[in-house]
Amino acid sequence: MNSDKSIWASLPVPAFLIDTDDRITDVNSAGEGFLNASARQVEGQPVWDLIAVDAPLEEALQRARANGTPLFVNDVDVGTGNRAPLQCALQIAPLVNHPGMMILMISPRELAGRMTQSHSVKSAAQSAIGMAEMLAHEIKNPLAGITGAAQLLSMNLSQEDLELTDLIVTESRRIVKLLEQVEQFGNLSAPDLKPVNIHDVLDRARRSALLGFGAHMRIIEDYDPSLPLAYGDPDQLLQVVLNLLKNASEAAGDIGGDIRIHTYFEHSFRLRRSDGSGHSLPLQVEIIDDGPGLPDDIKADIFDPFVSGRENGTGLGLALVSKIISDHDGWISVTSVPGRTVFRLSLPRAPRDTSAE
Ligand SMILES: Nc1ncnc2c1ncn2[C@@H]1O[C@H](COP(=O)(O)OP(=O)(O)OP(=O)(O)O)[C@@H](O)[C@H]1O
Ligand SMILES: [Mg+2]
Repeated sequence: MNSDKSIWASLPVPAFLIDTDDRITDVNSAGEGFLNASARQVEGQPVWDLIAVDAPLEEALQRARANGTPLFVNDVDVGTGNRAPLQCALQIAPLVNHPGMMILMISPRELAGRMTQSHSVKSAAQSAIGMAEMLAHEIKNPLAGITGAAQLLSMNLSQEDLELTDLIVTESRRIVKLLEQVEQFGNLSAPDLKPVNIHDVLDRARRSALLGFGAHMRIIEDYDPSLPLAYGDPDQLLQVVLNLLKNASEAAGDIGGDIRIHTYFEHSFRLRRSDGSGHSLPLQVEIIDDGPGLPDDIKADIFDPFVSGRENGTGLGLALVSKIISDHDGWISVTSVPGRTVFRLSLPRAPRDTSAE
């Protein structure tokens, strides 16, 4: 029993014992620190009153309790009182020999754990794109001929047959659009790096999204106003953010949903290259949506060109995004579960000697 007590007290992560009514019956010292309150103040309190989690947990917790199984929840924002939410992983497990009692442990996410999935494009994508670009060029001319012929034909046709020529025309247009995107990809020049206010870029992206493809979404700004200037190409970064907002809007479907744009400074974020050199990427931009999440079958490959989970998708959006970010010497990572997908960009700050404008 004594050893139980000292194990409990020594656990380096905040831990809580929760009874069948979801009330806290015990808390370790890390937990007291996390809540900034003493055990006496929190015991007997409903746990979800003190700990705000931005994921629907209650039902899953009930199920875990009923089945006596543990429950792991990764990458949720956990807020307490008036402190800013922290990104955490939750581990919940039934307490042995005490039916209905659960242990809840909260681990703030480590830097290393964040890069669940990450990418630096270059080689493989590059050759696929080169090939596609050449094809794009070759296909466009005959396609224009086909569309023109269908339009000529349609002048003398009955209503029923018109449907067929319309189909030829709309499908050809779709192919032309795809080809143009492929060409755009190939034409992407090296970024013109200068100090940029990333919030200006985000505002522009947000406004244009709300006027077009994102009209059915709620886009919430959650900015750290003290963020220093980033070092980037504003037009290319705009393209990046637009692509991420567009994907989130499309994933939400007609019913819409929320997108949160979250910026913050993380002093300690460094990218280590394979040659051992490292550089600092302290500006963080997260695009967080509450849609269905990445489809399982393509999860691992979404940054590759032509990988799409949508019927009309070309699969070039994220390939372009990751090319631009890697040209900026930045970093992109994604974590996704149903109800919460986070694309996170990490960017360098502008050199200090450059003036602010
Ligand atoms: N926020 C998101 N939520 C759910 N799935 C996503 C999200 N973002 C991307 N995806 C998935 O990743 C796939 C690849 O995205 P990507 O932007 O590369 O291509 P696309 O959107 O299909 O086509 P394009 O952007 O070229 O029109 C999407 O088709 C979609 O299945
Ligand atoms: Mg896309």
